[in-house]
Amino acid sequence: MRDSDIPQVIDIDHEAFPAQWPPISYTSYKQELHNQLARYVVIYKEKRGKTEIGFRKESSWFKCLFNRDRFLDDESISPREDYVMGFAGFWIMLDKAHLTNIAVREAYYHQGLGESLLISVIELAAQLGARTVTLEVRVSNKVAQNLYRKYGFQEAKIRHGYYSDNGEDALLMSTDTISSAPFQAHFQQLKQAHSQKWQRVFTLVNQLN
Ligand SMILES: CC(C)(COP(=O)(O)OP(=O)(O)OC[C@H]1O[C@@H](n2cnc3c(N)ncnc32)[C@H](O)[C@@H]1OP(=O)(O)O)[C@@H](O)C(=O)NCCC(=O)NCCS
Repeated sequence: MRDSDIPQVIDIDHEAFPAQWPPISYTSYKQELHNQLARYVVIYKEKRGKTEIGFRKESSWFKCLFNRDRFLDDESISPREDYVMGFAGFWIMLDKAHLTNIAVREAYYHQGLGESLLISVIELAAQLGARTVTLEVRVSNKVAQNLYRKYGFQEAKIRHGYYSDNGEDALLMSTDTISSAPFQAHFQQLKQAHSQKWQRVFTLVNQLN
C-alpha cells in the first residue's frame, strides 16, 4: 500500500466496517504505513487497458500484492491510476504477525480476492520471521471465519465484549507454526488450487471480452 492508496482504502474500510467509531482516518493509515512494525498490502486492477487482476503469471499476481514502497519500489506502476479492490494489514508483535484488517470491496466479493490477500499476508509474515499469524474476528462473522479456518486458523480463546459498538465477543484465532512442514504443505496446496481456479476464470473472462 502506498500513501496515494489511502483514500480508496478508507472507502473500503468504511464500507466493510460501518459500525467502527470513530471512523478510521487518513492520518491513522498514514501513520500505519510509516510504522516499521506494520505491513499493508493492496490488491488492485490497473485502470489503463484491459482489466487485469494479475493472475496470469504468479510473479505479477504476487507483485500486485506486495507492499510496493518497501519491497519493490516499482515506479513503472502508477498507483494513482489503479483501482484498489481490497487491502490487508498486520503488525509484527514479537514472534507473531497479528492481522489488523482485511477487507474487499463488496462489488468484488466471491472472486478469490480475500483469499489472495490472506495468502500474501501469510507469505509476507513468514518472510519477516513470524512464527504464527493471529487475529480477532467477531463471533458473528462466519464468512471471515470460514476463510481463516480454510487456511488453518484455529480458535485460541474468546475475548468477551471485545467490540465496543455492540459488546460482541471476539474469537482470537491463530495458525500453527507457519514455517512447519505440515502447515507449509497445506498452505502450498491451497495456494496452488486458488491460483489454478482463478487463472481459469480470468482466462475465460478475457476470452469472452
Ligand atoms: C471476509 C472477506 C475479506 C472475504 O473476501 P472475498 O474476496 O469475498 O472471499 P473469497 O472469494 O476470497 O473467498 C475465500 C473463502 O472465504 C469464505 N467465504 C467467502 N464468502 C463466503 C460466504 N458468502 N459464505 C461462506 N464462506 C465464504 C470461503 O471459505 C471461501 O473459500 P471457498 O471459495 O473455497 O469456499 C470479505 O467478505 C470482506 O471484506 N468482508 C468485510 C470485512 C471483514 O469482515 N473482514 C474480516 C474482519 S476479521
